[in-house]
Amino acid sequence: MRKAVIIGGKKLKGKVRVSGSKNATLPILAATILLRGETVIKNAPNLNDVTTMIRVLRALGQRAEFHEPDTIKVSTGDKVKHVAPYELVTKMRASFFIIGPMLAKMGFAKVPLPGGCAIGSRPVDLHIRGLEALGAKVDMEHGFVIVKANKLKGNRFYMDFPSVGATETVMMAAALAEGDTIIENAAREPEVADLANFLNQCGAKIQGVGEEAIRVEGVRELKGVSYRVIPDRIEAATLIIAGAITHGEISVEGIIEDHIKAVLMKLAEAGVEIRLEDNVAKVRVPDGIKPVDLITSPYPGFPTDVQPQFTTFMSLASGTSVVAETVFENRFMHVQELKRMGADIKLEKQSAIIKGVNKLSGCPVRVSDLRAGAALVLAGLVAEGETLIDDTDRHIERGYENLIEKLNSLGADLRELNGISENGFGVK
Ligand code: UD1
Repeated sequence: MRKAVIIGGKKLKGKVRVSGSKNATLPILAATILLRGETVIKNAPNLNDVTTMIRVLRALGQRAEFHEPDTIKVSTGDKVKHVAPYELVTKMRASFFIIGPMLAKMGFAKVPLPGGCAIGSRPVDLHIRGLEALGAKVDMEHGFVIVKANKLKGNRFYMDFPSVGATETVMMAAALAEGDTIIENAAREPEVADLANFLNQCGAKIQGVGEEAIRVEGVRELKGVSYRVIPDRIEAATLIIAGAITHGEISVEGIIEDHIKAVLMKLAEAGVEIRLEDNVAKVRVPDGIKPVDLITSPYPGFPTDVQPQFTTFMSLASGTSVVAETVFENRFMHVQELKRMGADIKLEKQSAIIKGVNKLSGCPVRVSDLRAGAALVLAGLVAEGETLIDDTDRHIERGYENLIEKLNSLGADLRELNGISENGFGVK
Protein backbone atom coordinates (compact mmCIF):
# COMPACT_ATOMS: atom_id res chain seq x y z
CA MET A 1 0.00 0.00 0.00
CA ARG A 2 1.62 3.24 -1.13
CA LYS A 3 0.93 6.62 0.44
CA ALA A 4 1.55 10.20 -0.58
CA VAL A 5 1.95 13.36 1.39
CA ILE A 6 0.85 16.73 0.03
CA ILE A 7 2.04 20.02 1.41
CA GLY A 8 -0.78 22.38 0.57
CA GLY A 9 -0.87 26.04 -0.32
CA LYS A 10 1.06 26.16 -3.60
CA LYS A 11 -0.55 28.02 -6.49
CA LEU A 12 -0.23 25.86 -9.60
CA LYS A 13 1.41 27.38 -12.66
CA GLY A 14 2.47 26.05 -16.05
CA LYS A 15 1.39 23.55 -18.69
CA VAL A 16 0.22 19.98 -18.36
CA ARG A 17 -0.99 17.42 -20.90
CA VAL A 18 -3.97 15.12 -20.46
CA SER A 19 -3.30 11.40 -21.01
CA GLY A 20 -5.40 9.03 -23.10
CA SER A 21 -8.78 8.00 -21.75
CA LYS A 22 -8.80 5.06 -19.35
CA ASN A 23 -12.51 4.43 -19.89
CA ALA A 24 -12.06 4.36 -23.67
CA THR A 25 -8.92 2.20 -23.60
CA LEU A 26 -10.48 -0.54 -21.43
CA PRO A 27 -13.43 -1.45 -23.71
CA ILE A 28 -11.25 -1.05 -26.81
CA LEU A 29 -8.85 -3.61 -25.34
CA ALA A 30 -11.82 -5.91 -24.61
CA ALA A 31 -13.01 -5.41 -28.20
CA THR A 32 -9.72 -6.75 -29.60
CA ILE A 33 -11.06 -10.22 -28.72
CA LEU A 34 -13.49 -9.79 -31.64
CA LEU A 35 -10.75 -9.14 -34.20
CA ARG A 36 -8.17 -11.05 -36.16
CA GLY A 37 -4.62 -9.85 -36.56
CA GLU A 38 -2.66 -7.11 -34.89
CA THR A 39 -4.10 -4.01 -33.22
CA VAL A 40 -2.07 -0.98 -32.20
CA ILE A 41 -3.68 1.26 -29.60
CA LYS A 42 -2.01 4.66 -29.37
CA ASN A 43 -2.32 7.29 -26.64
CA ALA A 44 -3.14 4.52 -24.15
CA PRO A 45 -2.57 5.54 -20.51
CA ASN A 46 -0.08 3.37 -18.65
CA LEU A 47 -2.21 2.59 -15.60
CA ASN A 48 -2.86 -0.32 -13.29
CA ASP A 49 -6.38 -0.76 -14.68
CA VAL A 50 -5.05 -0.93 -18.24
CA THR A 51 -2.39 -3.44 -17.17
CA THR A 52 -5.10 -5.53 -15.54
CA MET A 53 -7.05 -5.63 -18.83
CA ILE A 54 -3.85 -6.59 -20.68
CA ARG A 55 -3.41 -9.46 -18.20
CA VAL A 56 -7.02 -10.54 -18.81
CA LEU A 57 -6.35 -10.68 -22.56
CA ARG A 58 -3.18 -12.69 -22.01
CA ALA A 59 -5.04 -15.11 -19.73
CA LEU A 60 -7.46 -15.66 -22.63
CA GLY A 61 -4.55 -16.53 -24.93
CA GLN A 62 -3.95 -13.21 -26.73
CA ARG A 63 -0.60 -11.49 -27.05
CA ALA A 64 -0.85 -8.03 -25.50
CA GLU A 65 1.76 -5.63 -24.18
CA PHE A 66 2.85 -2.01 -23.94
CA HIS A 67 5.11 -1.59 -26.90
CA GLU A 68 6.06 2.01 -26.19
CA PRO A 69 5.11 4.05 -23.11
CA ASP A 70 1.72 4.98 -24.60
CA THR A 71 1.20 2.30 -27.24
CA ILE A 72 -0.27 -1.15 -26.73
CA LYS A 73 0.03 -3.95 -29.29
CA VAL A 74 -2.45 -6.79 -29.25
CA SER A 75 -2.37 -9.89 -31.46
CA THR A 76 -5.57 -11.87 -31.69
CA GLY A 77 -5.79 -15.31 -33.22
CA ASP A 78 -8.82 -17.30 -34.37
CA LYS A 79 -9.61 -18.56 -30.89
CA VAL A 80 -9.62 -17.27 -27.34
CA LYS A 81 -10.12 -19.29 -24.16
CA HIS A 82 -13.65 -19.68 -22.83
CA VAL A 83 -13.10 -18.94 -19.16
CA ALA A 84 -12.04 -15.57 -17.73
CA PRO A 85 -9.80 -15.57 -14.64
CA TYR A 86 -11.56 -14.91 -11.33
CA GLU A 87 -8.75 -12.86 -9.69
CA LEU A 88 -8.56 -10.36 -12.54
CA VAL A 89 -12.26 -9.88 -13.24
CA THR A 90 -13.10 -9.40 -9.57
CA LYS A 91 -10.16 -6.99 -9.21
CA MET A 92 -11.48 -4.59 -11.84
CA ARG A 93 -15.11 -4.26 -12.83
CA ALA A 94 -14.40 -3.25 -16.41
CA SER A 95 -12.84 -6.70 -17.03
CA PHE A 96 -16.42 -7.96 -17.22
CA PHE A 97 -16.71 -6.11 -20.55
CA ILE A 98 -14.95 -9.09 -22.20
CA ILE A 99 -18.11 -11.17 -21.91
CA GLY A 100 -19.74 -9.77 -25.08
CA PRO A 101 -16.68 -10.17 -27.33
CA MET A 102 -15.90 -13.67 -25.95
CA LEU A 103 -19.47 -14.79 -26.64
CA ALA A 104 -19.57 -13.24 -30.12
CA LYS A 105 -16.25 -14.80 -31.09
CA MET A 106 -16.44 -18.24 -29.46
CA GLY A 107 -20.16 -18.84 -28.87
CA PHE A 108 -19.45 -19.50 -25.19
CA ALA A 109 -18.06 -17.53 -22.26
CA LYS A 110 -17.72 -18.12 -18.55
CA VAL A 111 -16.93 -14.90 -16.70
CA PRO A 112 -17.01 -14.25 -12.93
CA LEU A 113 -19.62 -11.78 -11.65
CA PRO A 114 -17.65 -8.64 -10.84
CA GLY A 115 -19.48 -7.81 -7.60
CA GLY A 116 -20.13 -4.35 -6.18
CA CYS A 117 -17.63 -1.72 -5.17
CA ALA A 118 -17.32 1.26 -2.84
CA ILE A 119 -19.53 3.55 -4.92
CA GLY A 120 -22.48 1.20 -5.26
CA SER A 121 -23.85 -2.28 -5.92
CA ARG A 122 -23.23 -1.93 -9.68
CA PRO A 123 -25.19 -4.89 -11.04
CA VAL A 124 -24.62 -6.29 -14.56
CA ASP A 125 -28.24 -7.17 -15.31
CA LEU A 126 -28.40 -4.86 -18.34
CA HIS A 127 -25.29 -6.45 -19.89
CA ILE A 128 -26.87 -9.86 -19.43
CA ARG A 129 -30.32 -8.88 -20.69
CA GLY A 130 -28.70 -7.31 -23.72
CA LEU A 131 -26.87 -10.54 -24.54
CA GLU A 132 -30.11 -12.50 -24.00
CA ALA A 133 -31.84 -10.17 -26.47
CA LEU A 134 -29.21 -11.23 -29.03
CA GLY A 135 -30.16 -14.87 -28.43
CA ALA A 136 -27.69 -15.93 -25.74
CA LYS A 137 -28.69 -18.51 -23.14
CA VAL A 138 -27.51 -17.30 -19.74
CA ASP A 139 -26.85 -19.29 -16.56
CA MET A 140 -25.38 -18.24 -13.23
CA GLU A 141 -23.32 -20.87 -11.46
CA HIS A 142 -20.85 -20.68 -8.58
CA GLY A 143 -20.38 -16.93 -9.01
CA PHE A 144 -19.86 -17.16 -12.77
CA VAL A 145 -22.04 -15.94 -15.61
CA ILE A 146 -22.15 -18.56 -18.36
CA VAL A 147 -23.38 -17.39 -21.75
CA LYS A 148 -23.90 -19.56 -24.85
CA ALA A 149 -25.12 -18.94 -28.37
CA ASN A 150 -24.33 -20.80 -31.58
CA LYS A 151 -24.86 -17.60 -33.51
CA LEU A 152 -25.94 -14.27 -32.05
CA LYS A 153 -28.86 -12.68 -33.86
CA GLY A 154 -29.51 -8.96 -34.14
CA ASN A 155 -32.49 -7.61 -32.21
CA ARG A 156 -33.98 -4.45 -30.72
CA PHE A 157 -32.92 -3.86 -27.12
CA TYR A 158 -34.21 -1.09 -24.86
CA MET A 159 -32.05 -0.16 -21.87
CA ASP A 160 -33.89 0.92 -18.70
CA PHE A 161 -30.90 3.14 -17.92
CA PRO A 162 -28.28 4.33 -20.44
CA SER A 163 -25.49 2.24 -18.88
CA VAL A 164 -22.07 2.89 -20.41
CA GLY A 165 -20.77 -0.64 -19.88
CA ALA A 166 -23.96 -2.38 -21.01
CA THR A 167 -24.14 -0.27 -24.19
CA GLU A 168 -20.53 -1.26 -24.91
CA THR A 169 -21.16 -4.96 -24.17
CA VAL A 170 -24.16 -5.14 -26.50
CA MET A 171 -22.48 -3.06 -29.20
CA MET A 172 -19.42 -5.34 -29.22
CA ALA A 173 -21.49 -8.54 -29.29
CA ALA A 174 -23.82 -7.15 -31.99
CA ALA A 175 -20.84 -6.22 -34.20
CA LEU A 176 -20.40 -9.91 -35.16
CA ALA A 177 -24.08 -10.94 -34.86
CA GLU A 178 -26.28 -11.94 -37.76
CA GLY A 179 -28.47 -9.01 -38.85
CA ASP A 180 -29.21 -5.61 -37.31
CA THR A 181 -29.30 -4.63 -33.65
CA ILE A 182 -30.85 -1.45 -32.33
CA ILE A 183 -29.83 -0.34 -28.85
CA GLU A 184 -32.43 2.11 -27.58
CA ASN A 185 -31.80 4.54 -24.74
CA ALA A 186 -28.09 3.88 -25.33
CA ALA A 187 -25.34 5.66 -23.40
CA ARG A 188 -23.93 8.66 -25.29
CA GLU A 189 -20.63 9.04 -23.46
CA PRO A 190 -17.61 9.94 -25.64
CA GLU A 191 -15.96 6.66 -24.62
CA VAL A 192 -18.87 4.73 -26.18
CA ALA A 193 -18.37 6.76 -29.36
CA ASP A 194 -14.63 6.05 -29.27
CA LEU A 195 -15.29 2.31 -29.04
CA ALA A 196 -17.72 2.55 -31.98
CA ASN A 197 -15.17 4.54 -34.04
CA PHE A 198 -12.54 1.93 -33.28
CA LEU A 199 -14.85 -0.94 -34.25
CA ASN A 200 -15.92 0.85 -37.43
CA GLN A 201 -12.27 1.20 -38.43
CA CYS A 202 -11.93 -2.54 -37.87
CA GLY A 203 -14.80 -3.15 -40.32
CA ALA A 204 -17.91 -2.91 -38.11
CA LYS A 205 -21.04 -1.05 -39.19
CA ILE A 206 -22.22 1.04 -36.26
CA GLN A 207 -24.30 4.19 -36.62
CA GLY A 208 -26.13 6.60 -34.37
CA VAL A 209 -23.56 6.82 -31.60
CA GLY A 210 -24.20 9.89 -29.46
CA GLU A 211 -27.88 9.64 -30.33
CA GLU A 212 -30.76 7.98 -28.51
CA ALA A 213 -30.50 4.75 -30.52
CA ILE A 214 -27.42 2.96 -31.84
CA ARG A 215 -27.79 0.74 -34.90
CA VAL A 216 -25.32 -2.10 -35.41
CA GLU A 217 -25.33 -4.03 -38.66
CA GLY A 218 -23.54 -7.30 -37.95
CA VAL A 219 -20.54 -8.23 -40.09
CA ARG A 220 -18.71 -11.54 -40.57
CA GLU A 221 -15.24 -10.46 -39.61
CA LEU A 222 -13.32 -7.63 -37.98
CA LYS A 223 -9.64 -6.92 -38.53
CA GLY A 224 -7.04 -5.26 -36.31
CA VAL A 225 -6.06 -1.64 -37.05
CA SER A 226 -3.99 1.17 -35.60
CA TYR A 227 -6.13 3.52 -33.50
CA ARG A 228 -5.58 6.60 -31.33
CA VAL A 229 -7.64 6.81 -28.14
CA ILE A 230 -9.35 10.10 -27.13
CA PRO A 231 -7.97 12.20 -24.27
CA ASP A 232 -9.28 11.47 -20.78
CA ARG A 233 -12.05 13.99 -20.11
CA ILE A 234 -12.22 13.10 -16.41
CA GLU A 235 -8.50 13.69 -15.94
CA ALA A 236 -8.88 16.94 -17.92
CA ALA A 237 -11.63 18.14 -15.57
CA THR A 238 -9.62 17.11 -12.51
CA LEU A 239 -6.55 19.06 -13.68
CA ILE A 240 -8.62 22.14 -14.51
CA ILE A 241 -10.14 22.06 -11.02
CA ALA A 242 -6.62 21.66 -9.56
CA GLY A 243 -5.61 24.91 -11.26
CA ALA A 244 -8.79 26.67 -10.17
CA ILE A 245 -8.88 25.50 -6.56
CA THR A 246 -5.29 26.69 -5.94
CA HIS A 247 -6.07 30.03 -7.62
CA GLY A 248 -3.26 29.24 -10.00
CA GLU A 249 -2.85 29.87 -13.71
CA ILE A 250 -2.42 26.72 -15.74
CA SER A 251 -2.80 25.49 -19.30
CA VAL A 252 -4.28 22.04 -19.77
CA GLU A 253 -3.48 20.51 -23.17
CA GLY A 254 -5.60 17.86 -24.85
CA ILE A 255 -9.08 19.19 -24.15
CA ILE A 256 -12.00 18.25 -26.38
CA GLU A 257 -14.47 20.97 -25.48
CA ASP A 258 -17.57 18.98 -26.40
CA HIS A 259 -16.56 16.17 -24.06
CA ILE A 260 -16.51 18.37 -20.95
CA LYS A 261 -19.03 21.07 -21.79
CA ALA A 262 -21.16 20.42 -18.71
CA VAL A 263 -18.11 20.71 -16.45
CA LEU A 264 -16.85 23.85 -18.19
CA MET A 265 -20.24 25.52 -17.81
CA LYS A 266 -20.41 24.77 -14.09
CA LEU A 267 -16.85 25.98 -13.59
CA ALA A 268 -17.65 29.20 -15.44
CA GLU A 269 -20.69 29.67 -13.16
CA ALA A 270 -18.37 29.22 -10.20
CA GLY A 271 -16.18 32.07 -11.44
CA VAL A 272 -13.43 30.12 -13.20
CA GLU A 273 -12.15 31.79 -16.35
CA ILE A 274 -11.35 29.20 -19.00
CA ARG A 275 -10.07 30.25 -22.40
CA LEU A 276 -10.02 27.46 -24.98
CA GLU A 277 -7.89 27.49 -28.08
CA ASP A 278 -6.49 24.60 -30.12
CA ASN A 279 -7.53 22.03 -27.51
CA VAL A 280 -5.71 23.92 -24.75
CA ALA A 281 -7.64 25.29 -21.77
CA LYS A 282 -6.10 28.29 -20.01
CA VAL A 283 -7.46 28.38 -16.50
CA ARG A 284 -7.53 31.07 -13.82
CA VAL A 285 -9.85 32.37 -11.14
CA PRO A 286 -9.89 36.18 -11.27
CA ASP A 287 -12.03 36.59 -8.13
CA GLY A 288 -13.43 34.23 -5.51
CA ILE A 289 -15.13 30.85 -5.99
CA LYS A 290 -18.92 31.20 -6.23
CA PRO A 291 -21.31 28.49 -5.01
CA VAL A 292 -22.97 26.43 -7.75
CA ASP A 293 -25.64 23.70 -7.58
CA LEU A 294 -25.40 20.66 -9.81
CA ILE A 295 -26.94 17.28 -10.52
CA THR A 296 -24.96 14.42 -12.03
CA SER A 297 -26.53 12.57 -14.94
CA PRO A 298 -25.51 10.45 -17.92
CA TYR A 299 -23.73 12.26 -20.78
CA PRO A 300 -24.14 15.01 -21.89
CA GLY A 301 -25.02 15.81 -18.26
CA PHE A 302 -22.51 16.56 -15.52
CA PRO A 303 -20.35 13.41 -15.12
CA THR A 304 -20.60 11.47 -11.88
CA ASP A 305 -16.83 10.88 -12.20
CA VAL A 306 -16.21 14.61 -11.59
CA GLN A 307 -18.73 15.01 -8.75
CA PRO A 308 -16.26 14.29 -5.90
CA GLN A 309 -13.69 16.77 -7.30
CA PHE A 310 -16.40 19.43 -7.71
CA THR A 311 -17.60 18.80 -4.16
CA THR A 312 -14.09 19.61 -2.91
CA PHE A 313 -14.10 22.75 -5.05
CA MET A 314 -17.46 23.88 -3.67
CA SER A 315 -16.28 23.32 -0.10
CA LEU A 316 -14.22 26.50 -0.57
CA ALA A 317 -16.92 28.59 -2.30
CA SER A 318 -18.28 31.80 -0.82
CA GLY A 319 -21.73 30.40 0.04
CA THR A 320 -23.85 27.25 0.01
CA SER A 321 -24.13 24.83 -2.88
CA VAL A 322 -26.03 21.59 -3.39
CA VAL A 323 -24.46 18.71 -5.31
CA ALA A 324 -26.89 15.88 -6.14
CA GLU A 325 -25.72 12.44 -7.28
CA THR A 326 -28.12 10.42 -9.43
CA VAL A 327 -25.91 7.82 -11.13
CA PHE A 328 -24.42 5.85 -8.22
CA GLU A 329 -26.13 5.30 -4.87
CA ASN A 330 -23.05 5.58 -2.66
CA ARG A 331 -20.78 8.17 -4.15
CA PHE A 332 -20.15 10.52 -1.24
CA MET A 333 -17.45 8.52 0.53
CA HIS A 334 -15.06 11.47 0.17
CA VAL A 335 -17.38 13.74 2.18
CA GLN A 336 -16.54 12.24 5.56
CA GLU A 337 -12.84 12.76 4.86
CA LEU A 338 -13.37 16.31 3.55
CA LYS A 339 -15.20 17.09 6.80
CA ARG A 340 -12.17 15.90 8.75
CA MET A 341 -10.20 18.47 6.76
CA GLY A 342 -12.58 21.22 7.87
CA ALA A 343 -15.23 21.20 5.13
CA ASP A 344 -18.82 21.94 6.19
CA ILE A 345 -20.93 19.38 4.32
CA LYS A 346 -24.23 17.75 5.26
CA LEU A 347 -25.49 14.70 3.40
CA GLU A 348 -29.21 14.43 2.77
CA LYS A 349 -30.23 11.36 0.82
CA GLN A 350 -28.43 11.68 -2.52
CA SER A 351 -27.32 15.30 -2.06
CA ALA A 352 -24.43 17.06 -0.40
CA ILE A 353 -25.24 20.46 1.05
CA ILE A 354 -21.95 22.28 1.11
CA LYS A 355 -21.38 25.48 3.08
CA GLY A 356 -18.18 27.01 1.81
CA VAL A 357 -15.40 27.51 4.38
CA ASN A 358 -12.35 29.79 4.26
CA LYS A 359 -9.79 27.05 4.52
CA LEU A 360 -9.19 23.32 4.78
CA SER A 361 -6.51 21.83 7.00
CA GLY A 362 -4.34 18.85 6.19
CA CYS A 363 -4.61 15.51 8.01
CA PRO A 364 -4.34 11.81 7.15
CA VAL A 365 -7.30 10.78 4.98
CA ARG A 366 -8.68 7.46 3.83
CA VAL A 367 -9.43 6.93 0.16
CA SER A 368 -12.38 4.71 -0.81
CA ASP A 369 -12.28 4.83 -4.61
CA LEU A 370 -10.62 6.46 -7.60
CA ARG A 371 -12.52 9.75 -7.88
CA ALA A 372 -12.79 10.15 -4.10
CA GLY A 373 -8.98 9.90 -4.18
CA ALA A 374 -8.80 12.69 -6.76
CA ALA A 375 -11.14 14.83 -4.63
CA LEU A 376 -8.91 14.39 -1.59
CA VAL A 377 -5.75 15.18 -3.58
CA LEU A 378 -7.42 18.44 -4.67
CA ALA A 379 -8.29 19.20 -1.06
CA GLY A 380 -4.69 18.48 -0.06
CA LEU A 381 -3.38 20.92 -2.67
CA VAL A 382 -5.08 23.86 -0.89
CA ALA A 383 -5.16 22.61 2.70
CA GLU A 384 -3.00 24.21 5.33
CA GLY A 385 -0.15 21.86 6.28
CA GLU A 386 0.27 18.21 5.32
CA THR A 387 -2.35 15.85 3.96
CA LEU A 388 -1.52 12.18 3.98
CA ILE A 389 -3.34 10.14 1.34
CA ASP A 390 -3.34 6.38 1.79
CA ASP A 391 -3.56 3.58 -0.75
CA THR A 392 -2.54 5.79 -3.69
CA ASP A 393 -1.58 2.81 -5.85
CA ARG A 394 -4.96 1.11 -5.41
CA HIS A 395 -7.15 4.18 -5.69
CA ILE A 396 -5.34 6.94 -7.58
CA GLU A 397 -2.59 5.52 -9.76
CA ARG A 398 -5.01 2.92 -11.13
CA GLY A 399 -6.87 5.70 -12.94
CA TYR A 400 -4.61 8.76 -13.24
CA GLU A 401 -1.39 8.46 -15.21
CA ASN A 402 1.52 10.11 -13.35
CA LEU A 403 -0.78 12.38 -11.35
CA ILE A 404 1.86 13.13 -8.72
CA GLU A 405 4.48 14.02 -11.36
CA LYS A 406 2.00 16.11 -13.33
CA LEU A 407 0.90 18.14 -10.30
CA ASN A 408 4.51 18.58 -9.15
CA SER A 409 5.45 19.84 -12.62
CA LEU A 410 2.87 22.60 -11.99
CA GLY A 411 4.54 23.53 -8.71
CA ALA A 412 2.58 21.37 -6.25
CA ASP A 413 4.40 19.59 -3.45
CA LEU A 414 3.48 15.90 -3.40
CA ARG A 415 5.76 13.10 -2.30
CA GLU A 416 5.26 9.38 -2.37
CA LEU A 417 6.10 7.75 0.95
CA ASN A 418 7.71 4.38 1.35
CA GLY A 419 7.45 4.31 5.11
CA ILE A 420 5.38 6.16 7.67
CA SER A 421 6.50 7.78 10.93
CA GLU A 422 4.55 7.33 14.15
CA ASN A 423 2.51 10.47 13.67
CA GLY A 424 1.77 9.38 10.14
CA PHE A 425 3.98 11.90 8.37
CA GLY A 426 7.19 12.56 6.72
CA VAL A 427 9.31 9.41 6.26
CA LYS A 428 10.46 8.99 2.69
C1 UD1 B 1 -18.63 3.59 -16.52
C2 UD1 B 1 -17.27 4.18 -16.18
C3 UD1 B 1 -17.31 4.83 -14.81
C4 UD1 B 1 -18.44 5.86 -14.74
C5 UD1 B 1 -19.76 5.24 -15.19
C6 UD1 B 1 -20.89 6.25 -15.28
C7 UD1 B 1 -15.80 2.66 -17.37
C8 UD1 B 1 -14.74 1.63 -17.29
N1 UD1 B 1 -16.29 3.09 -16.20
O1 UD1 B 1 -18.89 2.58 -15.57
O2 UD1 B 1 -16.06 5.48 -14.57
O3 UD1 B 1 -18.58 6.32 -13.41
O4 UD1 B 1 -19.61 4.63 -16.48
O5 UD1 B 1 -20.55 7.28 -16.14
O6 UD1 B 1 -16.18 3.10 -18.44
N2 UD1 B 1 -26.36 -0.34 -13.85
C9 UD1 B 1 -27.34 -1.27 -13.64
N3 UD1 B 1 -27.27 -2.44 -14.35
C10 UD1 B 1 -26.28 -2.69 -15.25
C11 UD1 B 1 -25.29 -1.72 -15.45
C12 UD1 B 1 -25.36 -0.55 -14.75
O7 UD1 B 1 -28.24 -1.07 -12.82
O8 UD1 B 1 -26.26 -3.78 -15.85
C13 UD1 B 1 -26.40 0.93 -13.09
C14 UD1 B 1 -25.18 1.08 -12.18
O9 UD1 B 1 -25.34 0.41 -10.96
C15 UD1 B 1 -25.10 2.58 -12.01
C16 UD1 B 1 -25.60 3.09 -13.37
O10 UD1 B 1 -26.29 2.02 -13.97
O11 UD1 B 1 -25.96 3.01 -11.00
C17 UD1 B 1 -24.49 3.58 -14.29
O12 UD1 B 1 -23.58 2.55 -14.50
P1 UD1 B 1 -22.81 2.35 -15.88
O13 UD1 B 1 -23.14 3.47 -16.79
O14 UD1 B 1 -23.05 0.96 -16.35
O15 UD1 B 1 -21.32 2.48 -15.41
P2 UD1 B 1 -20.08 1.56 -15.80
O16 UD1 B 1 -20.15 1.17 -17.23
O17 UD1 B 1 -19.94 0.48 -14.79
